[in-house]
Amino acid sequence: MRFYIETYGCQMNEYDSQLAEYELLRSGHEKCISPEEADLVIFNTCTVRKSAEDRVYGQLGHMKRYKKKRTIMVGVIGCMAQKSGQKLIDDVPHVDFVLGTDHLNDITRVVRFLQEHPGEKIVLTDQDDAFLETEELPRKEAGLSEFISIMRGCNNFCTYCIVPYVRGRERSRDPKRIIEEIMRLVAGGTREITLLGQNVNSYQWGKTDFLKLIRMVHDIKGLDRIRFTTSHPKDMSPEILQTLMAMSKVCNHYHLPLQSGSDTILKAMNRKYTEAHYRSLVETIRQADPLASITTDIIVGFSGETDADYKKTKEMMQFAQYDSAFIFKYNPRPGTRGWEIADDVPVPKKQQRLEELNAVVKETSDKRNALLLGEKVEILVDGRGRSSDIQQKGRTGSNKVVVFDSEEDLYGRLITVTITDAVGWTLFGKMASI
Ligand code: 5AD
Ligand code: SF4
Repeated sequence: MRFYIETYGCQMNEYDSQLAEYELLRSGHEKCISPEEADLVIFNTCTVRKSAEDRVYGQLGHMKRYKKKRTIMVGVIGCMAQKSGQKLIDDVPHVDFVLGTDHLNDITRVVRFLQEHPGEKIVLTDQDDAFLETEELPRKEAGLSEFISIMRGCNNFCTYCIVPYVRGRERSRDPKRIIEEIMRLVAGGTREITLLGQNVNSYQWGKTDFLKLIRMVHDIKGLDRIRFTTSHPKDMSPEILQTLMAMSKVCNHYHLPLQSGSDTILKAMNRKYTEAHYRSLVETIRQADPLASITTDIIVGFSGETDADYKKTKEMMQFAQYDSAFIFKYNPRPGTRGWEIADDVPVPKKQQRLEELNAVVKETSDKRNALLLGEKVEILVDGRGRSSDIQQKGRTGSNKVVVFDSEEDLYGRLITVTITDAVGWTLFGKMASI
């Protein structure tokens, strides 16, 4: 079949879409680049906010039209599949299969069954721990930069968040298999790896904790760069940060979701750290490496958030000088503890706070980029620019895109550039050395 996968949500979902893609390719299916050409359309879904769910329902609605014209198979995978299961088929009868987050590796079996039994429906949403160890499907090819999951699930139960209910309890993967998989990727050409988990800092397998795992990954010859996401500020400490910052392959980009800068709201969110602790993490990073980037997620308008609480968040943003930040309006999710508390910040107020904080990020990210002007930075060249034949681009360790000119194709090389200009999100550089 010709298949098309549409992905919503976080990096874990992007990674899972890759796994589904490899699995389908391996069993002889063919990838295509638009749903119009596909016989099999798969939606990898997110349920963190209602807006993400609404978008999927909208897209699924369009599939009805497609189905009237020709025979196609429609599948839903990911968090919304896990959460809603059979309800998705009840709501949208032209959905053929629903596979929860532990059933990705069943995808070809399910597709084959449905090819042989048209009109049947399949829903698989039970939690299956075996998935963790069988998930490392052989990849089609090793890209320059690859994701790899080190753990799945979350035990933190932040009161606004649906993830622990959908993705289940924390489960870490065997480090031996993680290392083997990375070594295989590196042998195939991968130079940068991003370790993924809902809360990577709580990785634990026997005596191997997150730092130990990072050290093992660091020892892999031929691997140049290590990234990881997402970190939980409660499990980060200045000491851990210092250890990470001393490791040459660990990229100087720290994604530290703040959520709120007010201790009262952090407590109500069950985040288990204080504004002072968060501040100490920022200070540690800024002191050790002024050019490191810090990014974050913030929720405005959580239940009970007063003007004074909101001001604390704004102050922290000014203190942290984020390189970028995702700001969200609080959206109560059924089943979470937050759902039971009044959602008492009016929508226009949430909107106003969101816009104000977005303006703060714009200001601080421009300032952060301006700091790089004239600096020499290392980039990993990952592709071509758009404006000329000799334009190429790469990423800094701090995760910024730099565009530069070179006659020689430098794809996959680590090079040093001097930053000459910054326009919006893009930096321009001149080659300093190879
Ligand atoms: N409402 C708004 N934002 C949310 N997030 C998680 N749950 C909610 C919610 N109910 C945000 C958090 C998290 C990011 C992935 O999504 O900021 O870090
Ligand atoms: Fe959700 Fe909190 Fe777990 Fe992140 S740490 S996935 S926000 S419950």
